[in-house]
Amino acid sequence: MVDEAKTRDKFTIINELARRRGFFWKSYEIYGGVSGFVTYGFLGAKLKQNIEKKVRELFVNKLGILEIESPIIAPSKVFEASGHVDHFKEPMVECLKCKRRFRADHLLQEFAKISEVEAEKLSLKEVEEAIEKHEIRCPECGGIFDEPKYFLTMFKTTIGPYSEAIGYGRPEAAQGIFVEFRRLYEMAREKLPFGVIQIGHVLRNEISPRQGLIRSREFTIIDLEFFFDPEEPNCFLLIDFENETLRLLLAENKLRGSEEIIEVTVNEALEKGYIKVEWQAVFMALAKKLLVGLGVPAEKQRFIEKLPWEKAHYALQSFDQEIYVERWGWVEVSGHAYRTDYDLKRHMEFSGVDMRVFKEHEKPVEREQAVVKPLMAKLGPVFKEEAAKIVGLLSEADPEEVDVSIEKNGYYMLGKYKVLPEYVEITRQKVKERGRRFIPYVVEPSFGSDRMVYVALEYAYRVKDDRAILSLPRDIAPIQVGVYPLVSKDGLPGKALQVYKTLLNEGFMVEYDEAGSIGRRYARADEIGIPLGVTVDYKTLEDNTVTVRDRDSWKQVRSRIEELPQLLHKYFRWKANFEDLGKPLEG
Ligand code: ATP
Ligand code: GLY
Repeated sequence: MVDEAKTRDKFTIINELARRRGFFWKSYEIYGGVSGFVTYGFLGAKLKQNIEKKVRELFVNKLGILEIESPIIAPSKVFEASGHVDHFKEPMVECLKCKRRFRADHLLQEFAKISEVEAEKLSLKEVEEAIEKHEIRCPECGGIFDEPKYFLTMFKTTIGPYSEAIGYGRPEAAQGIFVEFRRLYEMAREKLPFGVIQIGHVLRNEISPRQGLIRSREFTIIDLEFFFDPEEPNCFLLIDFENETLRLLLAENKLRGSEEIIEVTVNEALEKGYIKVEWQAVFMALAKKLLVGLGVPAEKQRFIEKLPWEKAHYALQSFDQEIYVERWGWVEVSGHAYRTDYDLKRHMEFSGVDMRVFKEHEKPVEREQAVVKPLMAKLGPVFKEEAAKIVGLLSEADPEEVDVSIEKNGYYMLGKYKVLPEYVEITRQKVKERGRRFIPYVVEPSFGSDRMVYVALEYAYRVKDDRAILSLPRDIAPIQVGVYPLVSKDGLPGKALQVYKTLLNEGFMVEYDEAGSIGRRYARADEIGIPLGVTVDYKTLEDNTVTVRDRDSWKQVRSRIEELPQLLHKYFRWKANFEDLGKPLEG
């Protein structure tokens, strides 16, 4: 009986079902549980793997993207360079009475009805004022709050026995790709564009995670970094996606306080400049397709553009793909950031390793270039023993920059030294340029596996004749086929076990179940989302046929056992419908 559907919301129902049936539950239950950590049981782990498999099919295999695995812990330097040490923080308040801590911007949204847009914009001082003005008190004990502070949401640790060797748990998998760029570029045969994906755990010390899989402290991220030449930003896949529609909520509309969604094709979004880069638009179309494939209809999806103060520090433009869920409203499942050359440039500065690539012109290009010759007769008397150093520095400076600056400002700053026009002789010479050296640009789709698991479950959940069914798309269902003897006697279990083994050997995820009445077994199978049931009955012993039952329609067909593997392979690859699996059962 699932009357509960009428009184409890889907978030509660899904979490309860997940715990009862072993999809996932709060970790460390025997010690009271710890918020923000989730353990996946067999069904949940398989569901998550299947979702990640779909991502691989769409993004990795079809686009020839490379997949890597890098460590979860990185030395502090990595996140100093990436900007996370300075930026990866959230405003937090602590209750003076019970000492519980909360995300200040979330409290303002919940209790002062300040929009997310407004809340994220506020300085600490303004947050404090808003909390006072709206008389917001601790939701747990009613206590008053201390003044708001920023909290660094990266987990900090030390590496090895030396406490000074600070490390951080990665809050994104992207940096594991950027720091290895030189090697990865070599593996990609030094050709742009190319993409690298990483699917792995990340850690974020979220301040008050109260949303199950939607906000945990350790979760799986899918970061795809796609590198391209900024002078050749065209996407060769655009042709396949140009008419795909996207539902966009633009920053300019958000600024006006409007939630208006515009529905545009990928082509229109690019022509009108809503999305800056072709690759990003195509990845957004693919992300929409992925979520449709997970069971979320297009009208329950939208891409919301981030405002300047909402964007991550590295992004020039950013869209969040959001899915509507019953309890929480619009929830982000993937972020699409145009990261430009930000990360590689920062790692180049911090590590001193050249992250530029060299791209040869088809034909050498002849161009005029400034040549800067230091005049020792002038530099010597002015800079004395430092003159040689200045000559060295000048040889490393960009001659064009020196020329332009002297022309425009009347001097050029070489670090702390001021170079005046009389210290140098600038001529222009023709040089043959073989190619260009530049830092590639990056667009990044970044998905959260766990949020996709949650939305797939919420959208799969339905109730039929008071029974719960998880109508998960057939290619992500954790178990594909249930095999059942009608009764557990008269040789039926033996025959059913043969069918079970045959299907296992064919590579299907199969479950054998002979416990309880067939009705109860079907009900349990429906609740964990098994798309097909294969039942061995007395007729099977006569003619080697079985009943195949559809989870969603409860229709049944009769199929020959020897044909079953081939038919099922087709069915799970979406090359056959249920009706193609056999003859309809009469009556
Ligand atoms: P939010 O604004 O909800 O905190 P975010 O903007 O910090 O998310 P990103 O940094 O873009 O998220 O991370 C990429 C993806 O990782 C998100 O689209 C989301 O699916 C997932 N994600 C982010 N934070 C969490 C979390 N705490 N628990 C589970 N998944 C998360
Ligand atoms: N990718 C999310 C962040 O690191 O800011």
